Amino acid sequence: MMLSPTRQERPALSAAGIVERARQLGTVVPGFNIPYLPMMEPVVRALRDTDSFGLIMVARLEWEKFESRSLEAVREEHGRVGDPAHTRLHLDHVPVIDEDGREVDYLNILGRAIRAGYDSVMVDGSRLPLEENIRCTRRAVELAGEGGVPVEGELGAVMGHEAGPLPPYEELFRSGKGFTDPAEAARFVSETGVRWLSVAIGNIHGAISAAKKDQAKTEARLDIPHLDRIHRAVGIPLVLHGGTGIRKEYIQESIRHGIAKVNVATAIRQPYERTLKQSVAAAQQAVYDAMIGIITQELEIAGKRCQVSGLPRAPRGVGCQERQGSEHESSRG
Ligand code: 13P
Repeated sequence: MMLSPTRQERPALSAAGIVERARQLGTVVPGFNIPYLPMMEPVVRALRDTDSFGLIMVARLEWEKFESRSLEAVREEHGRVGDPAHTRLHLDHVPVIDEDGREVDYLNILGRAIRAGYDSVMVDGSRLPLEENIRCTRRAVELAGEGGVPVEGELGAVMGHEAGPLPPYEELFRSGKGFTDPAEAARFVSETGVRWLSVAIGNIHGAISAAKKDQAKTEARLDIPHLDRIHRAVGIPLVLHGGTGIRKEYIQESIRHGIAKVNVATAIRQPYERTLKQSVAAAQQAVYDAMIGIITQELEIAGKRCQVSGLPRAPRGVGCQERQGSEHESSRG
């Protein structure tokens, strides 16, 4: 069993520092979800082969409803195939109320992730009224703060994980129902202390219910002027959930208006599941191929690792100088 790293063994550049640097540079740090443990190796390999940087993520629903087993199992796999020069480990969606309407012992799960060595965590109180979302998120930030771990919160309704039918997408987009309110976002950020904010601006999650998880995802649009208002109000890195199935122009424009982390799950899960009938190796290759397209064509982050990590390029231009200078933060904060 892989032991948690000590503070000294943690990578020297913090996840928070890297995502903030991406925001300032007008680029993005993608997070890739791992619902099946063998998906992690080709995800890391694609990041390495394209000289890019990303977060390896798992959400509670992926060990409850898919096959990632536990946050500790994902941590262990990351210890085996992760690469501190290219990846950090992020705990995605720990809901206070889950997609089936059940209460979750979220502080307990967050505590486990922090002890296991996750570099950043998300608490999702977005199904709660504002006051309660603030209260629960603040408790998570207090807990994580003891270990110097940055927290992502969510405000607004990024739908899609629930089993029930979604309202027609165009109606949802036109009405702006559930979109993050900029004034509430400013209050949420200042009263909770989250480092990153997940926003609802027309984005939806890929479906995960057994009945719908294999279906093609609805193409979502993004309300860029609305995103810009949120970004101006909060001034911290914003997170785009539901990164699958959004036209590239929208993604690129959102990166110019504060999106510094984008979450991608369905676009790599479905190729894996479809190809698994052949073999695990074939399914891993399908993930790798999908990753290369996402990194190079959609997100355009290939070759940006040194820049986003704040590391100088190595002499002769191959890789980065991995030893960091004194400006760099401690690993997590
Ligand atoms: P997609 O499945 O739509 O890529 O969304 C992923 C996500 O937001 C995970 O948090």
